[in-house]
Amino acid sequence: MVTPILIAPSILAADFARLGEEVRAVDQAGADWIHLDVMDGHFVPNISFGPAVVKALRPHTKKLFDVHLMIAPADPYLAAFAEAGADRIIVHTETGPHIHRSLQAIKAMGKKAGVTINPGTPIDAIADVLDLIDLVLVMSVNPGFGGQDFIPSAVDKVAGIRRMIAGRDILIEVDGGVTAKTAPALARAGADVLVAGSAVFKGGDAAAYARNIAAIRDACTTIPA
Ligand code: DX5
Ligand code: ZN
Repeated sequence: MVTPILIAPSILAADFARLGEEVRAVDQAGADWIHLDVMDGHFVPNISFGPAVVKALRPHTKKLFDVHLMIAPADPYLAAFAEAGADRIIVHTETGPHIHRSLQAIKAMGKKAGVTINPGTPIDAIADVLDLIDLVLVMSVNPGFGGQDFIPSAVDKVAGIRRMIAGRDILIEVDGGVTAKTAPALARAGADVLVAGSAVFKGGDAAAYARNIAAIRDACTTIPA
């Protein structure tokens, strides 16, 4: 039995001069979700885009918008991303002392709520919010940039979270340095969704993106369950 893995291309690696076109292309190329990396230059040492860009991209695809907030504080902006068209809003446990309240607020807006932890944060940090989330995002790079090297300790973290959430309807997503090479160990450890930016957005068109997505998916489909 093979585990069908979902692929969520991160548009941080797309051509920012043609983002609408890039979202349509990667949708056509077989992306399951679209991963949108929001960065504020404060929580992470980089600035990407805000709710206006999410809103502008919304009409270009029907695929799930998986919005990863690398911003602090996050609470003042949750409504703006919900209104912009986010389907899931993912917040970092490290953005402040009230992760439980942030996740409650996201759910109150009728959106899926995800929680994410940096490579240096132990999985216990999410133990008390499992009732509020439908997804845990495991960072396998230090957030802020695409194209970084995969941090191998993410594999054990995925396995540990798989045990922690046993039986709950919670997805495990991994983000950073995911390629056809690093993907199989993550799938084996129990990951459900893989975010990939630079490994997908190579080659500049839908055909290339389709090959790149297929390479990651195929690398996982031979994993015995
Ligand atoms: C990093 C972002 C990741 C990143 C993934 O802070 O959260 O989503 O864009 O890019 P790659 O796949 O190139 O590591
Ligand atoms: Zn991300």
